Amino acid sequence: MKTLLRIDSSSRIEGSHSRALADYVEKRWKEENPEGKVIFRDLVESQLPHIHNSTIVGFYTPMENWSEEAAEATALSDVLISELKNADALLISSPLYNLNIPSNLKAYFDQVVRIGHTFGIDENGYFGLLENKTAYVAIVKGGVYKDTVMEQYDFQEPYLKAILGHMGIRQTHLFSLEGTTDTDILEQNKKQVYELIDKSFKTKTDAYH
Ligand SMILES: Cc1cc2nc3c(=O)[nH]c(=O)nc-3n(C[C@H](O)[C@H](O)[C@H](O)COP(=O)(O)O)c2cc1C
Repeated sequence: MKTLLRIDSSSRIEGSHSRALADYVEKRWKEENPEGKVIFRDLVESQLPHIHNSTIVGFYTPMENWSEEAAEATALSDVLISELKNADALLISSPLYNLNIPSNLKAYFDQVVRIGHTFGIDENGYFGLLENKTAYVAIVKGGVYKDTVMEQYDFQEPYLKAILGHMGIRQTHLFSLEGTTDTDILEQNKKQVYELIDKSFKTKTDAYH
């Protein structure tokens, strides 16, 4: 049985475009994996703490030398990493907040991007430890950045690709909806993104409606 780990980060629950995109990706994934299981991690409903000094000490100290404090401080990271490792596919939804991902999603990555667990380092540099995972990334922006002068200020899309790649997740389907605050272009942009989602899944559907 396949598992999809869905991670939402928009502070809006009702009317959130990124959550709506993720709903559609989840629906299509379930059609393709009728026996599949979805695990939800809503970073707004259930906020994660930022990492502390003791978390970092725990990350970089061999387990046999851990203090009780370091063990406690890394316990949440252990749970999140285990959840991530057990998932076959990952679905992340993210709005653009102040040119980047929401801080709750950054707090999530700070918990799971961990040496010896999700990435390693050797004489050739960094390598990812999460292999054979597919990531679906649903990102939305109030404005339009692609192919405009604003593209250089978009730290959301490049960051998400980089951090997933850093952990070894290279098979990434990116669905980007721009212009959510511009009613003149929103419907057309939505149509294109939903069609792109349909193309990423093999099973036939009625397409976007
Ligand atoms: C705190 C905050 C910061 C935002 N910063 C930006 C931004 O830098 N650029 C942009 O194009 N839109 C920005 N927006 C607009 C959101 O990206 C847009 O409303 C998006 O649809 C929100 O995602 P959601 O619909 O999933 O809630 C911001 C919105 C909020 C609430």
